[in-house]
Amino acid sequence: MKVLFTAAECAPFFKTGGLGDVCGTLPKELVKKGVETIVVLPFFTSMAEKYQQQCEHLFDFTVEVGWRKQYCGVKRLNFEGVTYYFIDNLYYFDRKELYGYYDDGERFAFFQMAVIELMEKIDFIPDVLHANDYHSAMIPFLLKEKYHWIKAYRSIKTVLTIHNIEFQGWYAKEVLPDLFGMGTQRYDDGTVRMNDALNFMKAGILYADRVTTVSPSYAEEIKTTEFGCGLDGILRMESGKLVGILNGIDYDLNNPETDTSLPYHYSVEDLSGKYKNKAALQEEMNLPIAPDIPLIAVVSRLTYQKGFHLVIDEFENLLQFPVQFVLLGTGDPRFEQGFQNIAARYPDKCAINISFDVQLAQRLYAGADLFLMPSSFEPCGLSQMIAMRYGTLPIVHEVGGLKDTVDSFNPVSGQGTGFGFQEFTSYQLMQSIKLALNTYEKAPDTWSQLQKRAMNQDFRWETSSQRYITLYKSIV
Ligand code: GLC
Repeated sequence: MKVLFTAAECAPFFKTGGLGDVCGTLPKELVKKGVETIVVLPFFTSMAEKYQQQCEHLFDFTVEVGWRKQYCGVKRLNFEGVTYYFIDNLYYFDRKELYGYYDDGERFAFFQMAVIELMEKIDFIPDVLHANDYHSAMIPFLLKEKYHWIKAYRSIKTVLTIHNIEFQGWYAKEVLPDLFGMGTQRYDDGTVRMNDALNFMKAGILYADRVTTVSPSYAEEIKTTEFGCGLDGILRMESGKLVGILNGIDYDLNNPETDTSLPYHYSVEDLSGKYKNKAALQEEMNLPIAPDIPLIAVVSRLTYQKGFHLVIDEFENLLQFPVQFVLLGTGDPRFEQGFQNIAARYPDKCAINISFDVQLAQRLYAGADLFLMPSSFEPCGLSQMIAMRYGTLPIVHEVGGLKDTVDSFNPVSGQGTGFGFQEFTSYQLMQSIKLALNTYEKAPDTWSQLQKRAMNQDFRWETSSQRYITLYKSIV
């Protein structure tokens, strides 16, 4: 079976979040299982020099973006068993950030048409084309409505994975003729229109053969008005082709026994190295070296989606307890400032790092006792799984992938792998933090059982990649 996997970001080349992590691991797993997989990505010039140098320039051609004739260079890189093709155009992809530009619609219109036109040129006609998020969600639509005249493409089946339904790609009707060089019939008849805008994600949901999202709970949630961001009706209508497949994490990169970012290594059999990492982290963060004070870590984008308004509300209250709090992330200035202002008054309890540092992140996962992730919604979430693998118990809002991966501690049965709260209020968040602090302090045996259970959870891609293969087989 041949699969073409496409997305806007992919670790380790360039990423802004979990989408990049998934694209950097799932294709590798598919290849390991014998699926012939290629990955097609934009050639963002923010890619590290060492990877750029390994890319081989194959050829170039012209992509018509409406009336514009745009250069499209094709580069190839074989990396860890996977073949990557990069779509090169400096005008579109030589920018500081990956997204957030006035012409993102044009950039990804170009990209999607380039992906489709590339297949013939490299003679790779996949059985399944797997698109991810709105940046490639128009491809299933384009294959049927714009490129149907290419015979070889007619048998291609398509899968669209939704990593976050909040970002849908809303554009003016004129984008169809002006960028895609198409008529407006499917807009005028309502198919790809949503609230008077062209909606890439809606087009993908309707035209893909299968739609997946990244956890079973999120697959249910997005069919409700609360979580569907306006597309819930469409998803209810198409629910027959919607499934939730939980993401995995990279077990080679996230391994407390070998992680090169850590000063000390440890395993579930012997956690002594974890406590050395804790002391090292406290020292690195200029906090008192205190083995018995519970250390809460946050590694996240600081946004409303991640629930930081709840944390800010209770932050000063939380700091009245014997705790240490270490944060790593960037985001909304309101949160960056808010944490820094309060933390300034508690220098021996908090360390706020407004930055993005992959290695420091690993030292937080390893050195902390608790990992705070109170997202308002969470399609899957990877950090809570990484934290668990490092024996750091997550405190989560029980939604989406958080609910599917963290088993909330039940004080009666003693079961669990972390702490959870259901009602999305700062009061309930604080209740679950207090339960965690209390368990840490009063019930060390229970605590170490929770840690062991968390570390023994299986979040390997092994299982999930098999689910994708089964899904592909069901449509080809
Ligand atoms: C998005 C979601 C996150 C998910 C990731 C990978 O970033 O917000 O929950 O883990 O995609 O699928």
